[in-house]
Amino acid sequence: MKISRRGFVKAAVATGAVMGVPRAMRAAGDGSPVLEARALSLQMVPPEFPQTAVWSFGGTVPGQEIRLRQGQRLRRRLVNRLPQATSVHWHGIRGDNAMDGVAGLTQAAVAPGAEFTYDLELRDAGTFWYHAHNRSLEQVARGLHGPLIVEEPEAPDVDADQVLVLDDWRLARDTAQIVADFDSPHDRSHAGRRGNLIVTNGQYDFARRVARYQRLRLRLINAANARVFPLALSGFRAWIIALDGMPLAMPQPVTAEILLGPGQRADLIADVIAEPGQAGYLLRLGEDQPRAQASFPVKGLESTALRDPPGPLPPNPDQAVGGLDTALRTRLNMAGGAMGRLEAAVVDGQRRDFVQMGEANQFWAFNGIVGMTDTPLITAATGQTVRVALVNDTAFPHAIHLHGMHFREIRPEGGLGPLRDTLLSFGGQRHEIAFVAGNPGDWLLHCHMLAHAEAGMMTWVKVTA
Ligand code: C2O
Ligand code: CU
Repeated sequence: MKISRRGFVKAAVATGAVMGVPRAMRAAGDGSPVLEARALSLQMVPPEFPQTAVWSFGGTVPGQEIRLRQGQRLRRRLVNRLPQATSVHWHGIRGDNAMDGVAGLTQAAVAPGAEFTYDLELRDAGTFWYHAHNRSLEQVARGLHGPLIVEEPEAPDVDADQVLVLDDWRLARDTAQIVADFDSPHDRSHAGRRGNLIVTNGQYDFARRVARYQRLRLRLINAANARVFPLALSGFRAWIIALDGMPLAMPQPVTAEILLGPGQRADLIADVIAEPGQAGYLLRLGEDQPRAQASFPVKGLESTALRDPPGPLPPNPDQAVGGLDTALRTRLNMAGGAMGRLEAAVVDGQRRDFVQMGEANQFWAFNGIVGMTDTPLITAATGQTVRVALVNDTAFPHAIHLHGMHFREIRPEGGLGPLRDTLLSFGGQRHEIAFVAGNPGDWLLHCHMLAHAEAGMMTWVKVTA
């Protein structure tokens, strides 16, 4: 029987699929636990609607929770069973640059059928997350992200530790399938890709039963493509104990709304004070009325009295940002987008007016340049302190994320803000951040509204050894 070339290619692909990965690559497997990226269908919406086809790390959405201890190594063998090349970025981890997972900068994207072993030291305890970092706008929207929890050697005394991954999906109303308009010029030039189904841990009606006077540790992670979550609690007495994985020097009572931009995290200690028969809520504000982002129905009593207020978490290493007077300084000017003032910028070395930029589906510039450049925004020697003035000259909020290092805001009123890896900047705002270039390598600096990143808001920082 003759086999056509086309048929042969198909047969070869099918064999590859049955065999999994090529033998040599399997032999290279070092016993690290597998993190499989693959397509599957899940019931995201009420059962009268069809299942939704998603992409997942480890068979769930959000992806498989990775939970380790501070000081342990994170080892995962990414096996790519997707129809697209992918990679994994460990958001907020101050790790080895070669393991940062940025396709095109720190590694080549892992092709379908191929694999890549990640191996990182976990210096910091805290709430982190991981997500695809190749074609991120599409891949994160399809479900490729999961929580990464690094436990303190002595964890605070709580009755329950609850991870809450906040996300939104853009689904077609009749078919419940992901709307694949990842090139949408409107999303790219406005607030980014926002969904119409808002979920917690993949569920639109997430609920967990609690008892009165229980103490919970809530680990909030904003994994959405572009949505900023304004949040509040009801039925709880609560404190923020960490932001973006890093402990606050002192727990901060939750009195105002908590704003969580894409990529940001907050760790809360929350004592249930709602009565049995009632419920505590994590509320989402900013709509016509507050909505339940997560519900905590109260059954019974854990104890007869509230506990004492919590103490701070043990600090992670190297939390000081000193050397501000002798710091290297630079400025990151954000411009572009709809209703902005950007008239022209440099795309691939060519000056383009805003109309021409739009024709290339590019809408944003950092310091007048669209997208990645050959030279970094700044080059620092290891140990050097860097100050960056962030100026948002656009009509939209941006969530500016630095890979590999946490920074502190230099507050205009004096003093330094908490360590963060992502800063939310609203239109017209100006901030100054400072960080110690403690980690050699090439580190991405970009907007975590992923449509903005793909439409121009991306640069990098070089730290020389
Ligand atoms: Cu959370 Cu460049 O990523
Ligand atoms: Cu942005």
